[in-house]
Amino acid sequence: MDHLKAVLADWVEESKKLAHHGQVAAYIPELSHSPHEALGIHITSIEGDSVSAGNCGTLFTMQSISKVFTLIMALMDRGEDAVFSKVGKEPSGDNFNSMLKLELVEPGIPFNPFINAGAIVVSSLIAGDGPNDKKARVLDFFRRIAGNDSLDYNHAVYRSESDTGHRNRSLAYFLKENGVLMDDVEDVLDVYFHHCAVEVTCADLARMAVLLASGGVDPISGESLIPRRFVQIAKTFMITCGMYNASGEFAIEVGLPAKSGVSGGIMTIVPGRYGIGVVGPALNRKGNSVAGVHLLERLSSEFDWSIF
Ligand code: DON
Repeated sequence: MDHLKAVLADWVEESKKLAHHGQVAAYIPELSHSPHEALGIHITSIEGDSVSAGNCGTLFTMQSISKVFTLIMALMDRGEDAVFSKVGKEPSGDNFNSMLKLELVEPGIPFNPFINAGAIVVSSLIAGDGPNDKKARVLDFFRRIAGNDSLDYNHAVYRSESDTGHRNRSLAYFLKENGVLMDDVEDVLDVYFHHCAVEVTCADLARMAVLLASGGVDPISGESLIPRRFVQIAKTFMITCGMYNASGEFAIEVGLPAKSGVSGGIMTIVPGRYGIGVVGPALNRKGNSVAGVHLLERLSSEFDWSIF
């Protein structure tokens, strides 16, 4: 990783200058306190080596990045047929919190598991005896794949979103009305808002990502934590829907499976080689980290990482 070590700190400083073009998400009030100028990156190789630069100690909530792993949990718990009878496999072309197509396109199931409507349905499919059991299972799974027993929910961010998330609440009621959501709406949202509020560092994200880069086998213990087929499904959604309406552009400019969140995190992988965690809370108009995307574009083009 010497080639990365040689340039990473300088490139982070250069990309950081772009942060002032972006805005920190404020629709979840607690996120408005995020450090606007921060940019950090951590890269872990499947051999277990690491390199990091910038503000990589910054704590942030996973937000939509958590949807990759709740999808994997639902697939492991219920199987593909059950999951894809309730959520589609296609990009939506709409904003991540849109309800437009739920009414316009039959049969009223969300287009994919990464838009909010889809992720809410996925939360309802996670096995467990009520919301507390499901939340405990989510935290347990996330701790295991991050190799970090102290991972936890950020209760202030959870509370902030739960108090103000009226649009997600309306999406959930709409899905309930359509017969897509079977559980109690507040119970499902309790699980959904919590998994979005799991707090991590770039190093945690990189460690979770490296598991995807290695096809589901923990490169350190050699243990298979996720069936290969489900890693394949998750990585495919990361390419087609992971960066929302900028997924096509990101595929052209970076060419790696990735998932972003409104807290400014991006998790990406170089298959068979690296897991990467990035944080840069200032977002562009599509909801992705401005400085983070810029840094990944540079890394991918200089080191020829695109899978295409
Ligand atoms: O439901 C929400 O709006 C947030 N908890 C997660 C959205 C998100 O991260 C979308 N990312 N770009």
